[in-house]
Parts: sequence; structure tokens; C-alpha cells
Amino acid sequence: MNTSKKLKWPFIIFALLITLSSLNILWGDDDDDEKHHERKEGKDRKGEVYKINNRSDFPAVTNVKWKAECSSCHMLYHPGLLPARSWTKMMSTLNKHFGENAELDPATQKEITDFLVQNSSDRVHTRRGDKILSGIGRNEEILRISETSYFKSKHDEISPSVYKRKAIGSPANCLACHSGAEKGDFSEDNVRIPKESSAKIK
Ligand code: HEC
Ligand code: HEC
Repeated sequence: MNTSKKLKWPFIIFALLITLSSLNILWGDDDDDEKHHERKEGKDRKGEVYKINNRSDFPAVTNVKWKAECSSCHMLYHPGLLPARSWTKMMSTLNKHFGENAELDPATQKEITDFLVQNSSDRVHTRRGDKILSGIGRNEEILRISETSYFKSKHDEISPSVYKRKAIGSPANCLACHSGAEKGDFSEDNVRIPKESSAKIK
């Protein structure tokens, strides 16, 4: 009995090492998955669950009514650009919306508000959204993305006259320079400032 045990030991240790090393690889993988998984949700101070999108730009979102009602006067602003409180405030003051009356029927107003809130920067976290958030006071209900400190810091090299170009018109016209703006893409690779329009010259 003793001899057979002695003979088996080296083999058992060898097998154990192989098993352990392969398990280690598996564990390594699991770890990554777990980290990834852990980062998909979080809870804010009020205990409300938010989602974490582990990427820089905003995830693609869509809602038929939002598209129809919020893109007739200007581009579609991605919900991830502002916190929930900003959207709630904006949607409850549509009759006085930047000098325009953008009022909606109550059902449409509610549907769009819910959509904007659910995809706002404090409900779906992205790296960019977090940077925007960090520059806004906790109770501040800022309505303009173009007035956030993050926006200002990223555009401080653009002179005010540039925004007055015909093809741009305003700092709020993100789409003029960021071709992917409506899809939530603001990557540096897709930035192009339109030149002064020559179409005016007749
Ligand atoms: C009747 C026209 C009209 C409609 C409809 C409209 N808006 Fe606007 N909105 C404006 C104007 C005008 C401005 C100011 C644009 C500027 O400064 O260049 C503005 C500005 C904004 C801004 C601020 C942009 C910035 O960062 O400066 C947001 C956000 C916005 N609108 C969201 C919405 C949403 C959401 C809807 C749909 C519920 C909507 N708008 C519908 C006219 C409209
Ligand atoms: C006149 C053109 C113009 C307009 C309008 C404009 N941007 Fe930009 N934006 C730029 C330029 C140029 C940069 C700098 C790109 C770089 O760093 O190479 C930039 C950078 C950014 C960045 C940072 C990109 C990065 O990864 O560093 C974000 C985010 C952004 N803009 C969002 C917006 C939003 C939101 C709006 C509208 C409310 C907007 N921009 C309007 C030209 C513009």
C-alpha cells in the first residue's frame, strides 16, 4: 500500500499543477467578465439604480416621438448629454423653450420625458457623460449642453466668430462640426469645422 502511494504522489502533484494552472486561466477570464459585469450597474445616493455603459461615447438610443418632436427646429440632442433633472425641467417648460413655444400634448410630453430621463447622464453612465456631470452642480438644472463647463473646456479654442458662420449658426449646433452628434458620437476623429460658406456669393 505504501509503495503504490509513493508511486502515485508525483503523478498526483503533476496533475494538480496542470489543473491549477488551467483553472487559473479560467479564473483570469472569469475575473474580467465579473469586472465587466460589476460595472454594468450602480446605485446613486438616493439608492436609485443606474446603468454603466463602459465606453466613452453615448450608446445609440431611439424613440419615434422624440425624433419627430425634438428635431424639427434643431438637431437631436442625445439624452446622455444632460442629467435627468435638466430634462425634467426642460420638458415641463416647453411653452417657454429658448424663446419658442414647443409645447406638446400631455401623453407625448410624458413619453419623451420618460425616454430622456431613462437615458440621461445620471441613469446611463458613460465616460463622457460623467465628465459633463462632474462640472454641473448637484442641484443645478442646467438646460444648455453648450453652457456646461465640460463643453466650454473642450471648445475654448474656437473663436465666437466661428459659430456665426452660416453653416454653424450657434454653439448648440453640434451636428455642424460633429457629424455623428445625433448618434452620440463626439470622437475627435469625426470633427470637422465647416469653412465660411461661399454659396452666399452670387
Ligand atoms: C419650436 C422649435 C423647437 C422645438 C420643437 C424644440 N426646440 Fe429645443 N431649442 C429651440 C431653440 C430655438 C433652441 C436654442 C438654439 C440655439 O441656441 O442655437 C433650443 C435649444 C435646445 C437645447 C439646448 C442646446 C444647447 O446646448 O444650447 C436642448 C437640449 C433642446 N433644445 C432640447 C429640445 C427637446 C428635447 C425638444 C423636444 C421636446 C426640443 N428641444 C424641441 C427650439 C426648439
Ligand atoms: C464649430 C464647431 C463645433 C461645434 C458647433 C461643436 N463642437 Fe464639439 N468640438 C469641436 C472641436 C474642434 C473639438 C476639438 C476636437 C479635438 O480636440 O481635436 C470639439 C470637441 C468636442 C468634444 C470632445 C471630444 C474629445 O474626445 O475630446 C465633445 C464631447 C464635443 N465637442 C461635444 C460637442 C457638443 C455636445 C456640441 C453641441 C452642444 C458641440 N460639441 C458643438 C467643434 C465643435
